[in-house]
Amino acid sequence: MESIRIQTGIPYDALVGRGLLDQAGGLARNAVRGDGMLILADENVAPLYLERVKAAFEQAGFRTGTFVFPAGEEAKRLSTVEAILSEADRMGLTRTDCFAALGGGVTGDMAGLAAALYLRGVDFVQIPTTLLAMVDASVGGKTAVNLVSGKNLCGAFHQPRLVICDPDTLDTLPPPVLAEGMAEVIKHGAICSAALLDRIREGAAPGDLVAENIRIKSGIVSRDERESGERKLLNLGHTFGHALEKLSGYTIYHGEGVAVGMLIAAFSAGRAGLCAPGVYEELRELLRSRNLPVTTAFTAAEIAKNAMNDKKRAGNSLTVVLPAERGRSVLRTIPASELRTLIACCDGEVTGR
Ligand code: GLY
Repeated sequence: MESIRIQTGIPYDALVGRGLLDQAGGLARNAVRGDGMLILADENVAPLYLERVKAAFEQAGFRTGTFVFPAGEEAKRLSTVEAILSEADRMGLTRTDCFAALGGGVTGDMAGLAAALYLRGVDFVQIPTTLLAMVDASVGGKTAVNLVSGKNLCGAFHQPRLVICDPDTLDTLPPPVLAEGMAEVIKHGAICSAALLDRIREGAAPGDLVAENIRIKSGIVSRDERESGERKLLNLGHTFGHALEKLSGYTIYHGEGVAVGMLIAAFSAGRAGLCAPGVYEELRELLRSRNLPVTTAFTAAEIAKNAMNDKKRAGNSLTVVLPAERGRSVLRTIPASELRTLIACCDGEVTGR
């Protein structure tokens, strides 16, 4: 088992090891305070792992309850959070009790928000079962639900007390769900690690990349917990990716939007003379090799218009993340009105195809 320390205001560990699901209760015992544990999972994950994890918590002396909700982005809304809070109240959970998020990014984001709100804040444990949730969403304390106008527009920072990653769960993932996690892995390489890009190029298995990616994310989050600077780099591809998700009516996966979003950023940066030659081409090749999309039919104008509501916008400015060279990205703040001009060059190459 590997253990990675996340040095936030209240530090916590991310544990990575095969078979850890069955040890979840004992591991959580040392990290949380009370005995009550409400375990949240969606309808896809519940039949696979819920009974096992519940048994693991009960063996460690927890009094458990479960809450299962429909799978997918549609359920990531305040009404589901309200139902979770009502269930916690019905169970009689108190301030020292805990929530556990068993599943992918949607589950972790919603469970985290519910934990931030219940009795003004209770502990929660992340037990991610997708690659995307292991390498990104479960670490760093971003919690949120969607509003009709966009993704993750209602949320809070609330760090988990523990993250338990069992790479065995990656074996049951549908290929597109595994692929979307690879988009976040490639993103970490593009932001700050040429060595990670090398490992991806050499064909490393996703499960073998989890700990290294958590270390990268942990470093960034530990230096900038509240995203006042460096953490914004983790949004590479997201401003455009969220716009694509919205334009598609949330029919594409988050990671697919991020993949194309990164290419929009890299191609635009190259054309603007802000990025070294070859960076866009390598990213495109890596994404394609991991079965991720590298083009979209939506035009640059449509994407720019939809990106205007991005939560990274501050007044009339928008901070975009642009690859600068292999394994290094930078932040650039531009007037929001210039976004369309910046990415217009992508039509015919990445966008409008
Ligand atoms: N997913 C980006 C972040 O946690 O900051």
